[in-house]
Amino acid sequence: MRRVGIIGVGEYLPDKVLTNHDLEKLVDTTDEWIITRTGIKERRIASDNEAVSDLAIKAAREALEDAKLAPQDLDLIILATVTGDMPFPSTASIVQNALSAKHAAALDISAACAGFVYALSIAQQFIASGTYKNALVIGAEKLSAVTDWKDRNTCVLLGDGAGACVVSEVKEGGILSTYLGCDGSNMELLNMPAGGSRMPASHETVDSRMHYLKMRGNELFKIAVKSMTMAAEKVLEQAGLTFRDVDLIVPHQANSRIILAVAKKLGIPEDKIYLNIEKYGNMSSASTVTALVEAVKEGRVKKGDIVLLDAFGAGLVWGACVIKW
Ligand code: ACO
Repeated sequence: MRRVGIIGVGEYLPDKVLTNHDLEKLVDTTDEWIITRTGIKERRIASDNEAVSDLAIKAAREALEDAKLAPQDLDLIILATVTGDMPFPSTASIVQNALSAKHAAALDISAACAGFVYALSIAQQFIASGTYKNALVIGAEKLSAVTDWKDRNTCVLLGDGAGACVVSEVKEGGILSTYLGCDGSNMELLNMPAGGSRMPASHETVDSRMHYLKMRGNELFKIAVKSMTMAAEKVLEQAGLTFRDVDLIVPHQANSRIILAVAKKLGIPEDKIYLNIEKYGNMSSASTVTALVEAVKEGRVKKGDIVLLDAFGAGLVWGACVIKW
């Protein structure tokens, strides 16, 4: 099997900033409640004429430039999202066309907040086996399009953005192990009920606000801590490493209290955790990758470092990955 690593990173965050104080005018909430319960201060909101593909394309271009590759060098594009431009065709196809990535196969995957780790793992298999040489892995979301701006339980948590990585064969380091999992029995804790074949769009579904994300956050909280801790333990064990070997943990950014609880259980000190939730909130598939991209850009990830990605989301699904940078 070939050694596979990340050779270029990029991101795109929409310009519009929505602060907690802005939300105080929309729902019965306070800046203080949001910061202390979640760690979020503000989030980005895409404009009405920006769809997920628009965010993804910008992040992808930056990643390709960083990798010094042309779109024509790509063999595969995997886009993780739960808010694609439309049910079909895949948003990855739209990105493939916009980039003129003529030689690339393209597909979307749906694994919510664990979407980037799932997508990275799929790309790794294709390259490790020698089937493909270069893959573009994107996590992009416009969660503002499925946010119920009347529901204070969810609207304070979510944001829009995109991150991308170019994944290729590397000579040293790279992805050391990945661990993915799912427990579909708890799917009712986090979902968007209408708009699919189970409950197609109708006047009734719109009137009853069924096209918005629904979440039972308090119940999810405990499962998130347990699942992310377990996934981190498994993936490190598979890599033959311990928590002392980890230089930086880059987790999915749903809630800083979840992240700190996971790190405490694992015995990873706070200075080894990368957090950017205060700027962006929870961007589902885009969160882990954007955090990784920013950690790299800020110099928090250096050559030879061991980086642990750890994510959890709707499904319920979880995914962790150990990368030697
Ligand atoms: N402002 C003020 N009060 C609020 C707000 C708000 N925005 N939202 C809820 N409250 C109130 C509730 O109504 C409740 O009031 P009550 O006690 O009078 O009933 C009180 O605050 C406490 O509510 P809880 O839900 O118990 O608050 P909690 O501390 O659990 O925080 C949160 C809620 C932030 C949602 C947290 O549970 C969480 O982060 N859960 C996990 C989210 C997650 O991991 N999701 C998976 C990934 S996301 C994805 O896949 C898209």
